[in-house]
Amino acid sequence: MTQGKVDALLGIVFGDEGKGKVVDFFTPQYDVVARFAGGPNAGHTIIFEGKKFVLRSIPSGIFDENKVNIIGNGCVIAPDLFMKEAHELEAAGYVLTERLHISRRAHLILPTHRVLDRAYEAAKGKNAVGTTGKGIGPTYSDKAARIGLRVGDIEEDFMAKYERLKARHLQILADMHFADFDIAAEEQEWLQGVEYMRKFRLSDTETEIHAYLAEGKSVLAEGAQGSLLDIDHGTYPYVSSSSTTSGGVCTGLGVGPGHIGRVYGIFKAYSTRVGSGPFPVELFDETGDELRRIGHEYGAVTGRNRRCGWIDLVALKYAIMINGVTDLVMMKSDVLDTFPVIRVCTAYEKDGVQTTAMPYDTEGWQAVYTELPGWQTPLTELRSEEQFPKAFADYIAYLERELQTPIKIISVGPDREATILM
Ligand code: IMP
Repeated sequence: MTQGKVDALLGIVFGDEGKGKVVDFFTPQYDVVARFAGGPNAGHTIIFEGKKFVLRSIPSGIFDENKVNIIGNGCVIAPDLFMKEAHELEAAGYVLTERLHISRRAHLILPTHRVLDRAYEAAKGKNAVGTTGKGIGPTYSDKAARIGLRVGDIEEDFMAKYERLKARHLQILADMHFADFDIAAEEQEWLQGVEYMRKFRLSDTETEIHAYLAEGKSVLAEGAQGSLLDIDHGTYPYVSSSSTTSGGVCTGLGVGPGHIGRVYGIFKAYSTRVGSGPFPVELFDETGDELRRIGHEYGAVTGRNRRCGWIDLVALKYAIMINGVTDLVMMKSDVLDTFPVIRVCTAYEKDGVQTTAMPYDTEGWQAVYTELPGWQTPLTELRSEEQFPKAFADYIAYLERELQTPIKIISVGPDREATILM
């Protein structure tokens, strides 16, 4: 934790790095927890006081009554899903309205944005991105096209603005001959969600954050998705539509680079990806199935099987570079406990050419591997570095050498206690 600064906690690969557990571990140290990008495409699974919650738009500091939680201007928010998520927390006894502040500059996901998401995906056929279907892409498209609706718009003359944008969307859908939807059904709940949002403090969160920083308070920027899903730096076009990297913390919260403290990069001891797009380390064999089974690699939002493979140093080096990662956090190390040999992707190869730098177009590249001995010892009960089996200590030392960045936290199991500070 850095006082008077914003620390970033980012998934640095394809999302699903286990941010929920890390955030749960980190948040007690911070005064403010802020989301800066994305929307209900995220699903952070948090186990708090024995209860399991999946947070999508709401920051993970919400369980602690002393923390301020901010949904920043870089986010997009679906009022109906937000209301549902909030109601679940309220039903469990958490009081939200005072602790959760929403940027007036964040954009609204309309029901028709979700339909457009489906229509665009259907039109792409075999080149579909495999989106979460939450309307993320169309909402950010409208933001960039300067026709989007922002949270602040609900404060005045809202229905006229809504009807105008909805009509525009319906026209696009008619032009695409896409008729597979029933807006009336969704709209009712969505408008209730808009009403519900009025109970919250809709504020100019960038000014608010700077006031906290000036008081010496600490802010945690809670990442969503992953660096390789970033609209600029990810495996375009198989990406999400927001800036998921540390640059996105600056634009998505309205803070300058000088206000950023530590940049924590979270990754897993192996690789996963949901949705389509290049994934050179993907395993289609029994080892891939083993990783999925042991690691419970099924999507938190969509329930889809995650694609699995060995760790990818090409991707990690690139992500560390573009984010300016200062500290690494390695999750789910115990998933590799039973493997006699651990493979590590050190380069990509295509047409006899090898590269260790992330190529512009990752399509068609094959992974080149180095092999390290597995530790074949259960790690989950270990609580300190001194207890590590030699092969595991060697694996960590190898990764740190290759990545030129220290691994500061290692997770060896799902429980809070199974977290080792290095
Ligand atoms: P969208 O963000 O719904 O537009 O989806 C774009 C791509 O990003 C798809 O491949 C999704 O599976 C992926 N994606 C979006 N959000 C997440 C996330 O939170 N974790 C992992 N993958 C995600």
